[in-house]
Amino acid sequence: MTHTSSVGPVADAGPTEVIERAAEAELLEAALLSGAHVLLEGPPGTGKSTLLRQVATGRRIAFVMVEGNAELTPARLIGHFDPALVLTKGYVPDIFADGPLLEAMRTGGLLYVEELNRIPEETLNVLLTAMSELEITVPRLGRVAAAPGFALVAAMNPFDAVGTARVSGALYDRTCRISMDYQTAEAEQEIVGLRTRDIDPTWRARVVELVRSTRDHDDIRFGSSVRGAIDVARLSVELARLRGTTTDDWHVGLAAAKAALSGRIRLHDGCDRTPEQVVTALYVAVFGAEPSESDRDPASDSDASPGSPGEP
Ligand SMILES: Nc1ncnc2c1ncn2[C@@H]1O[C@H](COP(=O)(O)OP(=O)(O)OP(=O)(O)O)[C@@H](O)[C@H]1O
Ligand SMILES: [Mg+2]
Repeated sequence: MTHTSSVGPVADAGPTEVIERAAEAELLEAALLSGAHVLLEGPPGTGKSTLLRQVATGRRIAFVMVEGNAELTPARLIGHFDPALVLTKGYVPDIFADGPLLEAMRTGGLLYVEELNRIPEETLNVLLTAMSELEITVPRLGRVAAAPGFALVAAMNPFDAVGTARVSGALYDRTCRISMDYQTAEAEQEIVGLRTRDIDPTWRARVVELVRSTRDHDDIRFGSSVRGAIDVARLSVELARLRGTTTDDWHVGLAAAKAALSGRIRLHDGCDRTPEQVVTALYVAVFGAEPSESDRDPASDSDASPGSPGEP
């Protein structure tokens, strides 16, 4: 489990500039100002964490982030008495190590739980109590009340098959839900541009088109998020450098697309093609068929040297 907290600007969060989410940002801001708990629901990579970071940073509110998974037990969420110190001092409050929930409650900050639908049921129950009562009772420590400003922001992927059934009506009844769908093509191009500067916008738009086409294909159950487009672009830049060719080289792009996307897409059961074959077909549909030898730039002839992955 990871658990990070910060007040004000988040140092390790990458760019906090949010492209084209003004309506969602405004809603999130209003929800937090109104004291509501919030559920951000949307597929992976749709900017849920980025949006929350931006809003929390802008308002300079304390922000505790936990990754939701099966290991997030109530004790990890709440905190624990240091066992070594209990032996010498007994159960006194100052040897209690606050977990993320207590930290957020005491500081009046936000508790951000990613992948909320993956946490164990008893942990979800602790959260539900904290949300509706704004206080919890911890054995041997006593009652801990939330300082003003405390709120839960939970993120969830609606397509996540792991443990989704557990997320009950009780949670939906205590939260305002902000739905985050995939970004527009223009927004995705800008996002890729933020992460990979100095690339040709026309080529970048095609990379985004390729990645978007993975979300709407008969053989694919789940397509790639914008993270796939960021990786295709970055990988192409480095691969082109190693091969002494240009980023928009057809073979460079295909190798990058296969590496960046084949693991990100999930094919339907019974599909008789491999992920690489599906990515290759989508790549050809967007970038055209493999250029013939006579079309090739002599400068990129080294492309055929050993070490270049064999293209089908
Ligand atoms: N609207 C946006 N503006 C700027 N960057 C964005 C935006 N949406 C996504 N990104 C970028 O895309 C990547 C994924 O975004 P983020 O981590 O916020 O998604 P998420 O919805 O929290 O994903 P997950 O469900 O997997 O946790 C990050 O690199 C982020 O910087
Ligand atoms: Mg996230």
